[in-house]
Amino acid sequence: LPGLFQSDLGENSFLIPKMAIQSVCDRWDQIWNFRARPDDLLITTYAKAGTTWIQEIVDMIQHDGDIEKCKRATTYLRHPFIEWVLPGPFSLELAEAMPSPRTLKTHLPVQLVPPSFWEQECKIIYVARNAKDNLVSYYHFHRMNKNMPEPGTWEEFLKKFMAGQVLWGCWYDHVKGWWDAKENHCILYLFYEDLKEDPKREIQKVLQFLEKDLENEVLDKIIHHTTFEIMKDNPMANYTFQPPAVMDHSISPFMRKGTVGDWKNHFTMAQNEKFDDDYRKKMSRTSLTFRMEL
Ligand code: A3P
Repeated sequence: LPGLFQSDLGENSFLIPKMAIQSVCDRWDQIWNFRARPDDLLITTYAKAGTTWIQEIVDMIQHDGDIEKCKRATTYLRHPFIEWVLPGPFSLELAEAMPSPRTLKTHLPVQLVPPSFWEQECKIIYVARNAKDNLVSYYHFHRMNKNMPEPGTWEEFLKKFMAGQVLWGCWYDHVKGWWDAKENHCILYLFYEDLKEDPKREIQKVLQFLEKDLENEVLDKIIHHTTFEIMKDNPMANYTFQPPAVMDHSISPFMRKGTVGDWKNHFTMAQNEKFDDDYRKKMSRTSLTFRMEL
């Protein structure tokens, strides 16, 4: 994973990103050999594609719309992030100790997902977000999250993203890899833009995929509880539990804008043209298409 070793909070910090990431690498064998269970549900995304949003939707579905149950713990603890180490306990150990059925989270590209998820034929939900909004969100996340490498300027980060020199690698390969994988595996492939456009329709797809049947009233409750505005105020979903030394929401809140098309406020005309040219090349041989605006 290129770009992993570029940041450092300094020696006085209690969290040193290099070490955190080093320990992901050190523990890679353990991650790769993770033992999935047949009733595990894996939530998969490229970082900043709407992971937390789908996690809340899934949790609400699994708990029949019971908001209090969904406030039992932060997203981070409800759904172990299998390859990540900080903060708190190593997520793999959290996952191992968790009773079934588990819902787990990963940002790994398809080729790096522990093989037992395929062997156990686990259900997987993938959420993809258009490249430009995903990139903008990722840039601001790098600014506020001290566990991430320094993003540099917007122009610099844009280049790194296009080159795949960022944490979790190349966005283009990620979305295409998972798109292809759905041909042979039990994967529900969703789009952030669709969720934004018609949450009811998309949540119904999730219900069907999870073989759940809920009353209309419960469905409406889930839609309301998982709106951006409500989630922004939910301390169990908005990552404000992280100390400012890890996530500084005063730089940019985790629940930042939650919209489609914010990229227009970031790209210059020249950057946009260059990005589009490169995008066309990288995405030429796939049936996968995205909406950059609604
Ligand atoms: P922005 O930075 O564009 O606002 P992830 O959970 O994968 O890290 O993704 C975070 C992005 O999803 C952020 O995007 C965040 O605001 C957005 N998001 C989180 N919850 C959302 C919701 N309920 N509705 C719309 N967007 C949401």
